[in-house]
Parts: sequence; structure tokens; C-alpha cells
Amino acid sequence: MSQPRGQWSSHLGFILAAAGSAVGLGNLWKFPYIAYENHGGAFVLVYIAAIALVGLPIMAAEIILGRRSQQSPVGAFRVLSEGRAGGFLWKGTGLLGVLAGFVILSYYCVIAGWTVKYILMAINGQLGAMVGDGSFNEFFGSFLADGPAQTLWYSIFMGLTIGVVFFGVRGGIERVAKIMVPILFAILIGLAIYATTTDGFGQAMTFLFRPNFSELDTGAILEALGHSFFTLSLGMGAMLTYGSYMRRQDSIPKAAITICLLDTLIAILACIIMFSIIFTENMEVQKSSTILFTTLPQIFFKLPGGSLISGFFYLLVGMAALTSTISLLEVVTSFAIDELKIGRRPAVLMTGGGIYVFGLLNAWSLGANETLTSVNIIGRESTAGVLGTLDYLASNWFLPVGGFLIAIFTGWVLASRTARQEMEEGHGPLPWYAGWRALIRFVAPLVVGAIIVSVILGAEYQ
Ligand code: PHE
Repeated sequence: MSQPRGQWSSHLGFILAAAGSAVGLGNLWKFPYIAYENHGGAFVLVYIAAIALVGLPIMAAEIILGRRSQQSPVGAFRVLSEGRAGGFLWKGTGLLGVLAGFVILSYYCVIAGWTVKYILMAINGQLGAMVGDGSFNEFFGSFLADGPAQTLWYSIFMGLTIGVVFFGVRGGIERVAKIMVPILFAILIGLAIYATTTDGFGQAMTFLFRPNFSELDTGAILEALGHSFFTLSLGMGAMLTYGSYMRRQDSIPKAAITICLLDTLIAILACIIMFSIIFTENMEVQKSSTILFTTLPQIFFKLPGGSLISGFFYLLVGMAALTSTISLLEVVTSFAIDELKIGRRPAVLMTGGGIYVFGLLNAWSLGANETLTSVNIIGRESTAGVLGTLDYLASNWFLPVGGFLIAIFTGWVLASRTARQEMEEGHGPLPWYAGWRALIRFVAPLVVGAIIVSVILGAEYQ
């Protein structure tokens, strides 16, 4: 009835695809700006702890559920919860993931579309000219309010995403990840080497790596925890879906650790690059949430080779975003393939088309907001505007609730022997299995539960 399930061609193929999903606007946009707002050092440490104690165990859990069930999120929970308590709840967990994929993709592509515009502006000299004559400040506001332009860039990005997913697991997703993730690394390392030569490098390192715990408040801790979900693509079944294409001879623990390390490394490299440049120019950052699109271009052109640096930089951001958007679409598409029993191509066109139409709302509504907080992607505050509201819902509710349920399911419902078998298959005996199990049963649910409670109480923002 159904076609054979897609599979990554190698362990490296899976790692690159999953790292491509994890590395995105969350790393290059959101992390630098929240690290900046929360005074660096201590916040960075808390973030790393959140990745290690919560992100990593849930990452392994999602891959286990996917590889075990050979299904997309809804089917995975249905198959694995058979004969166990709370079947209805678990099916809902899968559906929530599909919904999250739908919603996040619809606004993520709008922001990602801007990178295409910026790459073109860097190449044709427009960006440099605007920075030179001081008209850049007005540009961003009017760009957001320009519905037809927003629709154009959004459509291009959505088209690229649909195009890649159309060609399937190996022919589309893996192929693109294998090309883009290494290029992304190369550009980042190049920019990081450049950053070490700037005067602000030392100050950037101190800012990032000298913790001052008196500057840390509860809001910052919760923000670091919440962000660890978004940045690792957790809580909605993206890693579960990618895990369902993983070969049995590959190691889940190794994969999970590598993906988490790469994601963290890239977030930190992005900070080193941006802060070195910002500190070198002694630039005052008025609105940290838009550093990436408003502050950085102005600084790039104060440096030698401004068009080249900015062109490469936005290319980097665009590629990172694309390898994330394809994973978001793949969750919804694989749901349609598995549940509606239709082929990949009609499934992609149907789900991608549906999300595209829905997302037009985001592309057209940016100008309706006077403040740029409405595009404060992944922001924790509930801001006006469609995009802000959807983002608030997805990153404060869908992902943490999804992550919480995934942790509970894997730790308490799935048989320990099943989890162990998946963790050890392709890896060999795992001495620290008990450590992982303690994290997924107790630490992750407690910590994520605390995030959810704090969102309910609205405690993280004064
Ligand atoms: N992890 C991606 C980022 O950091 C976003 C994402 C979230 C992708 C959830 C897939 C699923 O930008």
C-alpha cells in the first residue's frame, strides 16, 4: 500500500540533515540577541547546562521514538502507545507536533525570505549605498510594511523549501544538507577568524565567557531553557521524523551528542562574530532583537570589503534557515504521507501549499504593527500581530508542552528495555544509560514543567 520508507544514505547524512535542522535563525538571530540582553557570561553557562541536561536527553528520546516506530509523529505515538494508558493523550502529542510544524514554518519563512532580499541587496550594491547615505534606518520599517515585497520573498523561500522536500529524504533533504551545512561551517569559521583580528574580539570573549552571576535573574534562566527547545528543533517531532529515516546500524547517542555540540558551537561562534564587530565599532544597540537585519549591515560597511562580508553573511543565514524550514515541512508532509497514505509528491504540494496560503497572513500583516517587537521572532512576550502571536504560541506553548510529553512518554510509558535497545543498537553497551534515563524521567520533565508553569504564571517577564 505505502511506498518503502526513505532512509539516510549514511550516518553523516543523518547528522548533517539533523544539524541543518537545528542550526537556523535560532542560532544566528535569536541566541546572539538574548545573550546580549542577558549580559552574556552567566547566561551562556546556563544555556549550555540547559542543552546538556534537558536538550540532549530529549534529542535522544525523539530519535529513539522515530527509529523504533518507523513513523512520523502521530503514527509513532499511536504504534508505541498501543495497549498502554493514555493513548488519546499520546496521539494528541503527535498532532500538536504537526500543528507546531505548520505554524512555525508559516512565519519562519517570512523572516527567512528577508535573507534573500539582503543577499541581493549586498550583491547589487543597494545595501552599501543605503548605509552610505543614511537612508538605511527608514528602509527596514518600510520594507516590513511592504506587503507585496514581503509576499515575494516569502513565496521564494517557501518555494525553495517545497522544492527540496519534494525530492525526498535522500534526493532532497540529505543532498541539500550535505552541500549547505559544510559551506555554512566554512563561512562561519571564515567570519570567526576575521573576528579575531578585530579590536573588539577580546571584549566579546570577556562578555561571553566571564560569568557574573549577580546579573542572572529567573527570567534569564527560563529564557535559556525555553530557547534550548527551539534551537535544537525539539518538542514537535522534527528529530523524531528525521530519526525515523535513520539506519539501524548507526548510533543514536553519538548522533544526539554531535548535533547538540554543533548547534551550540554555531550559536557561540555567531555571538563571537557579531559581538566582536559590534564592540569594535562601539555601536550602540538600540533594539537587540533586530541586530541581525538592522545593526549588522551598518557595521559591515564600515569595514573593508563590506559588500563581500555582508553578502556571505546573509547567504549563511539563508542557508541555515533553509535547512531548518525543510525539516519543518518534512514533519507535516510525512504526516500526510503516513496517515493519508498518499505519495510524497502530492503530499508535499498539499501540505506546502496549505501552509503557504496560511503564511500569507504573516507576510501581509507585518506593516500593521508599529513596533518591531512584532517581528521579535521566538520572543517570549505576546506581541500584537499575527506573526508575533503565532510565534508566542509555538515557542511558549507547543514546543515546551510537546517536549514535556515526549520526555514523560519515553521515560515512563515506553518500556526501558525498548529504549535501551535503541540506544545501544549501532552503538554497543552504554555504561551511562542509567544517567540518561534519570535525566529523561526526572530532570527533563521537572525543568520543562517549570517553564510551562512560569509561562502560565507569566513570571518570566516583569
Ligand atoms: N532549530 C531551528 C532554529 O534554530 C528552528 C526549528 C524549530 C526547526 C523547530 C525545526 C523545528 O532556527
